[in-house]
Amino acid sequence: MGEKSISGFSKLSKRGKLKWIAENFFKDPEAVIRELKSYWLTNEDQQRVMDGFSENTISNFHLPYGVAPNMIINDKTYCIPMVIEESSVVAAASSAAKFWMNRGGFKTEVISTVKIGQVHFYWDGDSSKMIPLFNKYKERFKQDVKDITANMDKRGGGIIDVNLKDFTDIEPNYYQVEIKFDTCDSMGANFINSVLERVASLMKDYFAREKTFTAKEKEIDIVMSILSNYTPECLVRASVSCPIEDLGMFGEMDAETFANKFNRAVRIAHIDPYRATTHNKGIFNGIDAVVLATGNDFRAIEACGHTYASRDGQYKSLSNCELKDGIFKFWLDIPLAIGTVGGLTNIHPIAKTSLELLGNPGSNELMQVIAATGLAQNFAALKSLVTVGIQKGHMKMHLMNILNHQEATKKEIEASVLHFKDHVVSFSAVRTFLDELRTTSSGNKPFAIAGTND
Ligand code: MEV
Repeated sequence: MGEKSISGFSKLSKRGKLKWIAENFFKDPEAVIRELKSYWLTNEDQQRVMDGFSENTISNFHLPYGVAPNMIINDKTYCIPMVIEESSVVAAASSAAKFWMNRGGFKTEVISTVKIGQVHFYWDGDSSKMIPLFNKYKERFKQDVKDITANMDKRGGGIIDVNLKDFTDIEPNYYQVEIKFDTCDSMGANFINSVLERVASLMKDYFAREKTFTAKEKEIDIVMSILSNYTPECLVRASVSCPIEDLGMFGEMDAETFANKFNRAVRIAHIDPYRATTHNKGIFNGIDAVVLATGNDFRAIEACGHTYASRDGQYKSLSNCELKDGIFKFWLDIPLAIGTVGGLTNIHPIAKTSLELLGNPGSNELMQVIAATGLAQNFAALKSLVTVGIQKGHMKMHLMNILNHQEATKKEIEASVLHFKDHVVSFSAVRTFLDELRTTSSGNKPFAIAGTND
C-alpha cells in the first residue's frame, strides 16, 4: 500500500476519519480539524441525517441558497429557491421573472411523464421463438412483480408497458426488455430498479421452463438491469410571448432590433454546437439550481438534457425562438425526471423547506417550475449578451467577491464600486486599488480620492 493509503477507513468513526485525513494530508492538522468541524451542524440529529446521505463524511460543504421572487407561472406567483455558487445567476433569474411579470408571465405544460427501465440480455437462440415467448409472458411480468408495484399502482402509477427490443443486427444475441413506468410524484429510481431486477430473475425462470426451447436456449445471460436516465417522454414545455413592441427599449436598442438579435442568438445555438453548449449551460444554471434546492438528482437531469439536445444527431439549443405576426415567442422543451416525494426531497431539511416555499407542488408542477426557471435564465443571459454584454453584471459580482476576499471595509467597498464603474475589474487591479486606498488612509488623508481616479 502507498504511503497515504489506508485499509478499513470506512470503519473509523467520523472523528477518526477526520484525524487521519488531517494528519496525513495537511501541514497544520489541528487547524484543518478545527475548520472542517466548524461546518458540522450544531443540531446533531440533522448532522446524522446529512451523514446518512453519503459515505465517509467528514464535514459539510456549503453552497449559497438564494431565491428569485416574482416568477409568474400559469398565473401563479412563485418565489423560486436556488442553490448555486455562481455570481449573477439568481439576479438574472429574478430580473427575467420581473421582466415577464408585466408581459403575461411564463406559461408551462407537462407533455408526458413516462420513465424507462431496461433489462439488457444476451440470448443465443432462434430469434423467431423469442417473440411468441415474450408475448406469452408480457402480461405475466406485471402480475409477478405486483408485490413491488402494489403501492405505486394504488397511487395511479406503475408499469405502463413492456416491450422487447431486438439489437441482434448490430450486436449478435443482444436484446433488451424495455419497461415504461409512471412513477407519480417520485423520481422512482429505486422503484424502477427493483422492478427491473425482479423482471430479470423472472426471465431466467421463464426461459429455463420453456418447453419449446433447446438446452442452450433455456439459458439467458442477463448483463444488467437499470433505469435509463434518458427520458424524452418525461417532457415539459415552458414559454413566454408578447407583441414585439411590448418588449420595450433596451437602453438605446429598440424592441424590433432586440427581438431580431435575440432570435439570431437562438438560431446560432441551433447551428453551432460550440455555442449550443454554452447556451444550454445557461439554461442549466437555472435548472440545476432548483433541482439542487429541491433535493433532486442534477446529474440525471443534466445527462438527460444533453442527450435530448442531441436527439437529431447534432447537439443543439434546447430553447427556440420565433418572431411571427409581430409576436415574440421564446420556449424551452426539456425532459425533467424529478420527484417531490422519496429520495432526498423529504429528508434533506432544506429541500423540504424549498418545497414548502413552492407551495408543496407535486412532481408535474415542480417540472413546470424548473423548466420556467431554465427559460428565465436563458432569456436573461441572451438579453445581456445581445445588449450590454455579460461582463457588466458579472464583473459587479466578481468585484464584490474579490473585495470580500480582501476583507474590504464598508468604506473601501463603496470607494471600489465607484472606481470600478469605469475601470476593468481584475484581482490585481482591485488589490492595487485597495493597497493605494489603505496607504492613503493610513497616512490619515481623507477618503476623498476613493472612487475618482488613480
Ligand atoms: C454563464 O454561466 C452562462 C452564459 O454563458 C450563458 C450563455 O452564454 O448563454 C452567460
